[in-house]
Amino acid sequence: MTRTVLVTGARGKTGREVVRRLRHADVVVRAGSSRPAGEPSPSVRPVRFDWSDPSTWPEAVDGVDAIYLMRPDRPDAPDLAARLVGLRPTAHVVLLSEQGAERMPAGHWARRVEDAVVAGAAGWTLLRPSWFHQVLTDARFYRDSIRTDRVFGLPSGGAPIAWVDARDIAAVAVAALGDPGRHHARAYTLTGPAVLTVEEVAAELSAQLGQPVRADDPPVRQAIEGLDAWTADLYAEVFDRVRRGDFAETSPAVAEVTGTPPVPMRAFVAEHLGEWRAG
Ligand SMILES: NC(=O)c1ccc[n+]([C@@H]2O[C@H](COP(=O)([O-])OP(=O)(O)OC[C@H]3O[C@@H](n4cnc5c(N)ncnc54)[C@H](OP(=O)(O)O)[C@@H]3O)[C@@H](O)[C@H]2O)c1
Repeated sequence: MTRTVLVTGARGKTGREVVRRLRHADVVVRAGSSRPAGEPSPSVRPVRFDWSDPSTWPEAVDGVDAIYLMRPDRPDAPDLAARLVGLRPTAHVVLLSEQGAERMPAGHWARRVEDAVVAGAAGWTLLRPSWFHQVLTDARFYRDSIRTDRVFGLPSGGAPIAWVDARDIAAVAVAALGDPGRHHARAYTLTGPAVLTVEEVAAELSAQLGQPVRADDPPVRQAIEGLDAWTADLYAEVFDRVRRGDFAETSPAVAEVTGTPPVPMRAFVAEHLGEWRAG
């Protein structure tokens, strides 16, 4: 029987890849977005799904077999996740969490989002990714400083990161959405094949662009400037965790789940050079 899957954050870095992959499976996809776009097709129907407007949720989850739940980064996320899961408790929920969530203190916001899914969903799989390659091409993150200033900077203190490609996260998500029995009650730490420091990423960008890209290690207060207080605290904590090495361990899970080795940073950079070329 054809399965129906709700993908939240369907236009986001991982969500759009989840939708793209599910399109080729025997699945009807509800592509959830606060600003749904595109024409419906037999396999993909854009639906309005807005974390800030719970009236959009019942129609989005009605009758679904599984949910790709892209955690909203906001203080009430544990409650929002619990309420959404409660609307369709029979669905298998694949949650996008973050690397190291299991080491956070009980009661931490990220842990409470995971706990809400584990407590409320009949079936669940937790994805705990490291930093995405795609932050390098995201205008909300580092694309423009690399493109315009030829600087790649984040307060890492020189600690390496096990960068992972959003496409590999999506491939694991699709495996779990498609075979809930096999992936129920599993938590996967998702990383790329190697760890790289900010300096090493800048060197890779420099080599492939043929122009120097400078690595920077700005103070945390500079990196969180302009963010609202809650988000600033969240990022300050993430940068602390980077400096402590919390994102510096690789995991074999991508290859184990998908049968394909994860995309290395070098390949990601080679595919996206146009994003950082002025013009
Ligand atoms: N980026 C990383 O390196 C990284 C690493 C580990 C974990 N994570 C976690 O992964 C998640 C995604 O992170 P990201 O920043 O990279 O996001 P992203 O993939 O760029 O996606 C953000 C998505 O949120 C959706 N969105 C925004 N407001 C919404 C609303 N009110 N209701 C429903 N959807 C809304 C947007 O879709 P619409 O505008 O179409 O609604 C957009 O597609 C976060 O929980 C983050 O903590 C990220």
